[in-house]
Amino acid sequence: MAPKKLVAPISLLLFALSHTVLLNAADFYSDFTVTWGGGRATIYNGGEDLQLMMDRASGSGGESKTAFLFGRFDVQIKLIPGNSAGTVTTFYLQSRSPYQDEIDFEFLGSNSSYVLHTNIYTGGNGGREQQFHFWFDPTADFHTYSILWNPQQINWYVDGIPIRVFKKANVSEVAYLENQPMKIHASLWDGSNWIGPIDWSKAPFIAHYHGYSYTACVWTGSENRYGLVTCSNNGTGNNWMNKVLSEDEKNKIEMVQKKYMFYTYCNKSTGGNRSESTIIECSINT
Ligand SMILES: *[C@@H]1O[C@H](CO)[C@@H](O)[C@H](O)[C@H]1NC(C)=O
Ligand SMILES: *[C@@H]1O[C@H](CO)[C@@H](O)[C@H](O)[C@H]1NC(C)=O
Ligand SMILES: *[C@@H]1O[C@H](CO)[C@@H](O)[C@H](O)[C@H]1NC(C)=O
Ligand SMILES: *[C@@H]1O[C@H](CO)[C@@H](O)[C@H](O)[C@H]1NC(C)=O
Ligand SMILES: *[C@@H]1O[C@H](CO)[C@@H](O)[C@H](O)[C@H]1NC(C)=O
Repeated sequence: MAPKKLVAPISLLLFALSHTVLLNAADFYSDFTVTWGGGRATIYNGGEDLQLMMDRASGSGGESKTAFLFGRFDVQIKLIPGNSAGTVTTFYLQSRSPYQDEIDFEFLGSNSSYVLHTNIYTGGNGGREQQFHFWFDPTADFHTYSILWNPQQINWYVDGIPIRVFKKANVSEVAYLENQPMKIHASLWDGSNWIGPIDWSKAPFIAHYHGYSYTACVWTGSENRYGLVTCSNNGTGNNWMNKVLSEDEKNKIEMVQKKYMFYTYCNKSTGGNRSESTIIECSINT
């Protein structure tokens, strides 16, 4: 008798992991430093886990010990359960200020459904927000959030599914993130000035991070510019350095954006018109 065929639901097929990449395991003890929060951020389980806490007095957070110029960064996050309205939990890359470059995952708390907020800054200019609804409950379990940043493009992934791309445009109007090394940051902060009030009776708020890993070019010069980089695994093995999106991944982005993206700066005009740089970058990133 032939084995029974397993038929996966269509949504599972569409959302099946598009890549299985072996990453260099990192850990929070050796690769990450708690920089603020006065004891509200804790690293435990041999460096496998990081817990960020926020109460009325303070949030908490930290950053990678080294800066990077290109890399792929993965972490699993379990967001704040219950009424998290007004809180912001983050995983992002950022260079030094001023004129900072930045690649953001920010999770905007809610009393009903979390918002997945992405943004990108080049030379201190942000305003490139794209916001998504989740297709799962991000507070019920850990899910993997990844940033891939190479000389061609930046990709955001959720559980291996690409949700957004920002390509190098090759035109002077649109700067690319390629001159400034960035550190990985994780934080939990009070976003009530931005997204609305926090119900402090629900504090403390706790977000969990697990299994941080990366393969990247580690910056060994002074943090600002013109230092040396040492790259791990940029050639063979997992080929993140030369990665561009496959047709399959482009289709996935299109599908995710169609279904779950509810805000994009590409649709926003300032004073009636979009800037030239916005028109150019939005035309190549869809
Ligand atoms: C969320 O908060 C808003 C504003 O305080 C309130 O109107 C709404 O009913 C709340 N929703 C839920 C599901 O609690
Ligand atoms: C930018 O130039 C590179 C190298 O020629 C090319 O591979 C890439 O596709 C170009 N990007 C865009 C958005 O045209
Ligand atoms: C890997 O990184 C090194 C150091 O930046 C660079 O010289 C080399 O060309 C890179 N290899 C690939 C395949 O991109
Ligand atoms: C952006 O505008 C296009 C064209 O009007 C529309 O089809 C799309 O739904 C809009 N997307 C969002 C996220 O608002
Ligand atoms: C928008 O662009 C059109 C066509 O280029 C121009 O005629 C119009 O004045 C612009 N409007 C604003 C508010 O800048």
